[in-house]
Amino acid sequence: MFNKCLMAGVIPLAIALSSTAFAQESTDKGEVEVLNWWTSGGEARALGALKDKLSDDGIGWKNMPVAGGAGTNAMAVLRSRITSNNPPTAAQVLGYDAQDWADRDALSSLDDVAKAGNWDEVFPQPIQRFAKSDGHWIAAPFEIHSTNWVWANKSMMDELGIQQPSSWEEFIASMKKAQDAGHTGLAYGGQPWQDATVFENVVLATGGADFYRQALIDLDPEALDSDTMTQSFDRFRELLQYKDDNSPGRDWNLATAMVIKGDALYQIMGDWAKGEFLNAGLKPEQDFMCFRTPGTQDAVTFNSDLMIMFKTDDKQQQAMQRTMAEIIGSPEFQITFSQLKGSVPARTDLSSDELDACAKRGYEQAKAAAKSNTLMGSMAHGYAAPASVKNAVFDIISSFVNSDMPSDVAAEQLAMAVQGARS
Ligand code: BGC
Repeated sequence: MFNKCLMAGVIPLAIALSSTAFAQESTDKGEVEVLNWWTSGGEARALGALKDKLSDDGIGWKNMPVAGGAGTNAMAVLRSRITSNNPPTAAQVLGYDAQDWADRDALSSLDDVAKAGNWDEVFPQPIQRFAKSDGHWIAAPFEIHSTNWVWANKSMMDELGIQQPSSWEEFIASMKKAQDAGHTGLAYGGQPWQDATVFENVVLATGGADFYRQALIDLDPEALDSDTMTQSFDRFRELLQYKDDNSPGRDWNLATAMVIKGDALYQIMGDWAKGEFLNAGLKPEQDFMCFRTPGTQDAVTFNSDLMIMFKTDDKQQQAMQRTMAEIIGSPEFQITFSQLKGSVPARTDLSSDELDACAKRGYEQAKAAAKSNTLMGSMAHGYAAPASVKNAVFDIISSFVNSDMPSDVAAEQLAMAVQGARS
């Protein structure tokens, strides 16, 4: 017990201290301190675009990186910064977390920037739902990421005569082929948020968009503990046969590197994985392939990184916050950032001419999904349910991965865990 408490207090601090690679650059207008978890090669490059833009405006940059995919560690550090009354200028957060900080009245309003930039018109409703609170803009959306993608090693596909799979059965058969040839079928990182990212793909592929929404967004107990959910766990188990033995604890970008290096055929991951391929100098559809997880082509599960700005009386900080929000929402930056990050712009009014082959498709799909109501929040990335429910879901999915729990038991436990987290 003592150890547990001690650890709970110590971990965030340790992470905070280990991230003292604070690149500091001051200029005369002052500097912004930005908390984020963009520490992989592709992520850091994309973040660099913001730093450069601010620097063009004479604003200095104090980076506050907290390593750990999907921001779990970063959110712990952010909470401790706020508790000790020492908020950063701004922080990268995901959907429900942005709402949570707004509910606590911790955020600066971005209404004037949003009005000048016509944000009400250019950002789609599913994003406004999280970037606004009580009708006021409280966050600047960087992009739309989406989680239902497969990233594939093209030369392995060619070598083994693998065509892009269009059904679940073909998908599994292609991984078996890779495994039989001595490769890893599925590059996998065994961390709770990654387990959940892959699982939400399987739920969407198995039950379709309506089922995904019912189960993971509406949190309907009957959908959570249903035959379709049991079948999703069955399929998930099938998929897990194609990961390697070293997957536990592996970071997502190391799993991506397995595909890049030709050790593994596929990775199921959000399109930030593409940022790693691009950062390694590889070209989509020439050196690597991107396709929607078979069975999920008609929907897009999304998340969007939001920059929230913390309330401050310091006029200089307030001015810099506004400048930062203006940059993030601007058409040029939305394109530049996504070109590096792997995402697509959050604004829906831009030309896709400057986007790569995967992003061109992704952008059209996201816009179409926003219209047809199939742009649905990612559970794994904070857009389907508040953190308490999300963490309860993570626990069950990861227990399933790390044990031989039967699928029907997993479905039942999932429903119970969600109910428990909500009450
Ligand atoms: C974020 C991405 C990030 C990924 C891996 C996601 O939750 O939205 O920006 O690259 O986590 O850390």
